[in-house]
Amino acid sequence: PVLVVDFGAQYAQLIARRVREAGVFSELIPSTASAAEIAAHNPVAIILSGGPSSVYEEGAPRLDPEVFELGVPTLGICYGFQVMAQALGGEVAHTGLREYGATDAALVGSGGVLLEGQPLEQNVWMSHGDQVSKAPAGFEVLASTAATPVAAFGNAEKCFYGVQWHPEVKHSDFGQKVIENFLHKAAGLPANWNAGNVIAEQVERIKEQIGDARVISALSGGVDSAVSTALVHKAVGDQLTAVFVDHGLLRKGEREQVEKDYVESTGVRLITVDAEETFLGHLAGVTDPEEKRKIIGREFIRAFEKVQLDLVAEARESGEKVKFLVQGTLYPDVVESGGGTGTANIKSHHNVGGLPEDLDFELVEPLRTLFKDEVRAIGRELGIPEAIVGRQPFPGPGLGIRIIGEVTRERLDILREADAIAREELTKAGLDKEIWQCPVVLLADVRSVGVQGDGRTYGHPVVLRPVSSEDAMTADWSRLPYDVLSKISNRITNEVREINRVVLDVTSKPPGTIEWE
Ligand code: XMP
Repeated sequence: PVLVVDFGAQYAQLIARRVREAGVFSELIPSTASAAEIAAHNPVAIILSGGPSSVYEEGAPRLDPEVFELGVPTLGICYGFQVMAQALGGEVAHTGLREYGATDAALVGSGGVLLEGQPLEQNVWMSHGDQVSKAPAGFEVLASTAATPVAAFGNAEKCFYGVQWHPEVKHSDFGQKVIENFLHKAAGLPANWNAGNVIAEQVERIKEQIGDARVISALSGGVDSAVSTALVHKAVGDQLTAVFVDHGLLRKGEREQVEKDYVESTGVRLITVDAEETFLGHLAGVTDPEEKRKIIGREFIRAFEKVQLDLVAEARESGEKVKFLVQGTLYPDVVESGGGTGTANIKSHHNVGGLPEDLDFELVEPLRTLFKDEVRAIGRELGIPEAIVGRQPFPGPGLGIRIIGEVTRERLDILREADAIAREELTKAGLDKEIWQCPVVLLADVRSVGVQGDGRTYGHPVVLRPVSSEDAMTADWSRLPYDVLSKISNRITNEVREINRVVLDVTSKPPGTIEWE
């Protein structure tokens, strides 16, 4: 792989994604790894990430200097660029000149292999206080800005390059080109990593892991479980049983999507558990958000567990073993639990919690090395319908935490209609990619006066909560076009009788969370 040395998580993950977008497999490794550990991964190239520190700071992350003796093509970015300069005998200075955000960079000479084929002036995204004041001996300066004379450098013989700006962010106009030039032209790596290869490789691995045992999988209707289940099905066919719990808190059309479209496109053997009555029964009278979440979580596990026990019993009768459980764990989860390069423990909430210990499942996690957008690409390649693969995040507790107040079937039906209209109009306006998600929240205990036709109405408001985000940790409210908002508002108030007002949530996260409960 291309190893991305992580000096600060956000930047490093983004770099790893861009490298993969360029068709080369990449993985993260913490900056504390020794040169020997790095070498053990057989890197075809190394990229040193940016990070929040200053190279002068006490405790600033360092890099084992022997990494530069491995003979591996290396690209330093921002902080990584400064680490590289310092390690190889250049100078890093704290000049007091800072550059943040959009900055003009100019090529020096031809810009070398790294900046080849790019305009003489380009817009790059900067975020730094320190700067490289002198390139190491043997290095050529490849670009500069008004405040930073050494904004990029290279040593073609060693195949060492560095840029002060962040090529991984979309605000750098030719950022992806910088990364591609480094990978393909400087390091000579072919672009041969893609969804098709991943599928073939994973299918082989899964076959090897599962052998002729039986395996079960929980389908939530979300992207990750849909794709991991389809991959495992492709590998072992009907040794797999998928379980889908309908808790009555799903959105309009969701169950049909799973039961019909998904099953038709993948051929997966599916068991649906009808648990609406059980869930709504336990939710009756409950208004506290945390209590709702606890009840939904607990009942989900109970429903799933029961099916598992049935399956295990059935399998035991025929002398088979249900030994495996499919999980849709993604690479960011693995990285966050401290396992940058592969073998880490799994965060407990990714196990379908609370399974009886004696079931003793072994996990199958075919998405462990992948990012969300890659999972989507693989899902498309596997023929999973776009309505599932392109889905925006939807919380496990479903519409149950989007009704402020008690959850009842009637209220769920009202919210389902409003939510379906909002989603339909956002899709029609081509905004699905732009927004992260748009919860619609029913303020079930609030009423306001309105007028419709000739009569007075006394209905409920719904809140639209469109947000943009990279990872849901932080978010901003989306500036949706007024005409789209207007269309959604008109349709909801006209088509959903109980709703007479639509309001817009204009709060960022923090301080608000994305969901209301
Ligand atoms: P908040 O409301 O915490 O949401 O800003 C962040 C993201 O997580 C989703 N979310 C959940 N997803 N189970 C899930 O699988 C949950 O209990 C849950 N609660 C919130 C939310 O939709 C948003 O994308």
